[in-house]
Amino acid sequence: MSVIDRIRALEILDSRGFPTLETTVTLKSGARGSFIVPSGASVGTAEAVELRDHDARRYLGKGVKRALYNVDHHIARVVCECGTLQQQELDQMLIELDGTENKSHLGANAILSVSVAFARAQAQERKIPVYAHIAELANNSDIRLPVPMMNFLNGGAHANNSLDFQEFMIIPVGAPNMAAAIRGGAEVFQCLKLALEKAGHLTTVGDEGGFAPNLSSHDEALGYLCDAITAAGFEVGVDIVLALDCAATEFYQEGTYTMDGMGGSASGEQLCEILAKLVSKYPIVSIEDGMAEDDWESWQTLSTKLGNTVQLVGDDIFVTNPKFLKRGIELGVANSILIKLNQIGTLTETLEVIQIAKNAGYSTVVSHRSGDTEDSFIADFSVGTGAGQLKTGSLSRSERTSKYNQLLRIEAEQGYMEFRGLNEISKHKDGGQQCEFSS
Ligand code: PGA
Ligand code: ZN
Repeated sequence: MSVIDRIRALEILDSRGFPTLETTVTLKSGARGSFIVPSGASVGTAEAVELRDHDARRYLGKGVKRALYNVDHHIARVVCECGTLQQQELDQMLIELDGTENKSHLGANAILSVSVAFARAQAQERKIPVYAHIAELANNSDIRLPVPMMNFLNGGAHANNSLDFQEFMIIPVGAPNMAAAIRGGAEVFQCLKLALEKAGHLTTVGDEGGFAPNLSSHDEALGYLCDAITAAGFEVGVDIVLALDCAATEFYQEGTYTMDGMGGSASGEQLCEILAKLVSKYPIVSIEDGMAEDDWESWQTLSTKLGNTVQLVGDDIFVTNPKFLKRGIELGVANSILIKLNQIGTLTETLEVIQIAKNAGYSTVVSHRSGDTEDSFIADFSVGTGAGQLKTGSLSRSERTSKYNQLLRIEAEQGYMEFRGLNEISKHKDGGQQCEFSS
């Protein structure tokens, strides 16, 4: 039970140079916690609302002074006067204070910043690591390190290039621990850079720190990843496997998927065939948003066709919202959910969604946003909830490496913490045995 003494928000910058909120909660005991809210680019329609000022005189309308005011005045006034609080009570109070379905009154950015900062302050007050505090809130006894999904080639809304799919990822599933997984990933990243340079491609990076070359096809992108894995001395499909985030909502309109960069359009059924072909050719174990957020029918087709062998992750379609996840479970859509705290707006609601997913046998992938910050909370969050997987971009740009580095710290401080590799990925080809990291 903690008593909040003070809450203060500050308008600071995210990794794209746009403003965001950093909120600090100070407890009566003197313990403090802060949180910096991330921001998406390929945003799901039903996400909780990120409140921006729309005042063209500041930050091209993207200022967050209104959200800041809501924290410093509306929220602070109420929660600083209510005595002892637990996380659930605080989050319920924030939801009621907002009073809207999508948190558009106070702003999900304002609400989430207070919710997470309070959790961190409580962890400090209790003198325990943040992940341990999260584990207690989540009622989770299965604390473990997540398998990292590293996004090495960026396309779609995250890069100014020809790739229609947004993310081409590697997953070092055969690593025995986090340090080996990160080292392996970093070696592949450098080998990929050399290969792209040699072929005359630009090696500037996109929003999530992956390279953003103008490649001629998705096939070519996956080929580059496989070659880089081999060049780094790892076995493709054994030590390291692949994953995609198509972010298909971004190129979908009225029944048609238009892939400009790849020069063609497809129906849902045809896109399903394209994905099935890629899966048969490359060791792809996970596909996120293979279909658009409002194309539930094609999602069902995809789930029937690939759901027994591939992890199908719902991001825009579920938006970390129990209502949409429950609908997906009922309709047999996807078998995994992406977890983004700012899509729903409080810590407690996010934990509830994770619980619903786990109960239904859906795997859970905790995720950063494309506009992120140096805040590494999601690393602790993924460990404490035992989510199993963490998607947090490439191994460049400090807002991405801050999360990986925090995982390395947690592993080092703990001495040993379980890392389950391929067994974290709910549907995959070879039945889930742990691979050898042969290097
Ligand atoms: P976003 O991208 O943060 O721009 O939504 C991340 C994702 O789609 O997974
Ligand atoms: Zn996504």
